[in-house]
Parts: sequence; structure tokens; C-alpha cells
Amino acid sequence: MSTAFPAIAQEGTGFNVNPEHDELLKVEQLHVAYGEVEAVQEVSLSMRRGQVLTVIGRNGAGKSTLLQALIGLLAYRGSISFEGRSIDSADVESRVRFGMNLVPEKRELFVSMSVEDNLILGAFHRRRLGAADRFSSLQEVYRRFPRLEERKQQLAGTLSGGERQMLAMGRALMGRPKLLLLDEPSLGLAPRVVADVFRVIRDLKQAGVSILLVEQNARAALHVADYAYVMETGRVVLKGEAKQLLKDQRLMQSYLGAAASITSIGLASSNGMGRWVPG
Ligand SMILES: Nc1ncnc2c1ncn2[C@@H]1O[C@H](COP(=O)(O)OP(=O)(O)O)[C@@H](O)[C@H]1O
Ligand SMILES: [Mg+2]
Repeated sequence: MSTAFPAIAQEGTGFNVNPEHDELLKVEQLHVAYGEVEAVQEVSLSMRRGQVLTVIGRNGAGKSTLLQALIGLLAYRGSISFEGRSIDSADVESRVRFGMNLVPEKRELFVSMSVEDNLILGAFHRRRLGAADRFSSLQEVYRRFPRLEERKQQLAGTLSGGERQMLAMGRALMGRPKLLLLDEPSLGLAPRVVADVFRVIRDLKQAGVSILLVEQNARAALHVADYAYVMETGRVVLKGEAKQLLKDQRLMQSYLGAAASITSIGLASSNGMGRWVPG
């Protein structure tokens, strides 16, 4: 069933250009352990191209571990395929080249480098496409995040929490990923900034970017997602259409407790960081 990976599949000008494989990601029976600790157990999930899938769950549920296994940072048992092709033997660099990109929980920016240099590093695996490709990616990111353009010469370490998150997302977009893996993008941000982050996610979805969003902020995540998986102590305990889960207060409370009772965030306000201008 697997087909050869066309080497230039992610080198088009749009984000998602290969309609042949409707199933973008398929994870079967994934297990990840830290020594004796089985952090992820028997996790299976799948997502289609263009979808926003969310994995929600309390702190320690195994969400970050799942994402790190997907991008190839952690060893695992089980199988992962991307666009119909097994990637189990592919290292992180190859997975990034295939079109996966992780925005880690800790952002992991180069704090003593400028905003623009951080962005340029995001296009590293596309370097052979040359300066024109890099320039158009930069322009696209600056259109999406005007604040980053205003601060492009500033050191990343001097940015606010919200700006750092935008920079981490912008850096990932520089690589024109087919699948964006977002690890708790709202973590530690003020509510107003959280709203901006979720607006960006919604805009990316409208632009056709496929996103796997890991969040503790269940309500906000379910508002933007198509489909959701709920994790508890390493396992998927519930899955369904995001709209349906959102309605199920009893399930939400029992699996997510306080995280589920975070009130719906307003998506209408803007401080200009996440303004979306169609390109
Ligand atoms: N580097 C590590 N070494 C040992 N245990 C870890 C490590 N990272 C995470 N864990 C454990 O694995 C489980 C899942 O953690 P994690 O994936 O970070 O959860 P989440 O992202 O949902 O908060 C937790 O019990 C956590 O303590
Ligand atoms: Mg985590």
C-alpha cells in the first residue's frame, strides 16, 4: 500500500499539495517508555489532511511524549505512517523533510539570536531551494505575524511570552510543514494572548494547514479542532468529534476536571500579533 515519497512533495508554494493520501497520519499501538515508566500505551489515532486534531488531557497524561515520538525524538514500539508511508525508520531530520514540524512545549528558541535568524533556521531543511524560497516564506510569516516583523532585529530572548510562542510557530511555518505538531501553545500565557494563539491556529486551519494540537486547555482546543482524543495516564480514554465532546459536560469533567472548566476564550479580540491577511 505504501507509495514512494515524492521528494518534491513539500516544495510547492502552498502548504498542502499532495491530495493523493487523504490519511495524513496514522498511529497504531504506540508505546513509549522512560525506563520503567510507560508514558504512552497502546495509542492509536489517525487524521486526515486539512484536519485539526486535538489531544487533550491533564498534566502528565503523556501528550508531550506522544508528540516527541511522532517527530522521532523518542524511541517507541508500534507504527507511525505519514501520507501512507511508514516513517518508523526515519530520524527527526527526515521526518521534518517529509513535512512534519514540532513546536515544542518549551518553544526552544535561540534566545541570543535575532527574531529573523530564528525564523531563517526554521527553513534550514529547505536551504537548497535558495534565497528566493526563504524570502517568500519570511514574507508569509511576517504577514501572519506583523509583530515579528516589527521586532525582527530584536533578540528572541527579549520577547514577551506571547511573542515567543508566535516566533516558535512562525519558525515552524518557515519550513512549510504538511503537519504542524503544537505542544500546548497556550501554556503560561495570559488569557488575552491565549486568544491570539488560538486565532492563529484557526487561521492556519482555514489556510489548509493540518494541525495536531496538544492542549490542557480542553475547551479552547475543542473549539478549534475537528476531532479529539482524550488521554489519561498514557492511554486514549475517549475520542470523538470535537463538537460532540464539547457538549458532553459530564465526560469532560470526569476526564479533564479543572482543565475542562476553563471558560471559552474570546476569539474576537486582537492585539495585532496574530492578524491574518490572506496571501
Ligand atoms: N524525561 C522523562 N523521564 C522520565 N519520565 C518522564 C520524562 N518525561 C515525562 N515523563 C513522565 O511521563 C509521563 C507523561 O509525561 P508527558 O508526556 O510530559 O505528559 P503531558 O505532556 O501530558 O503533561 C509523566 O508521568 C511524566 O512524569
Ligand atoms: Mg506536555
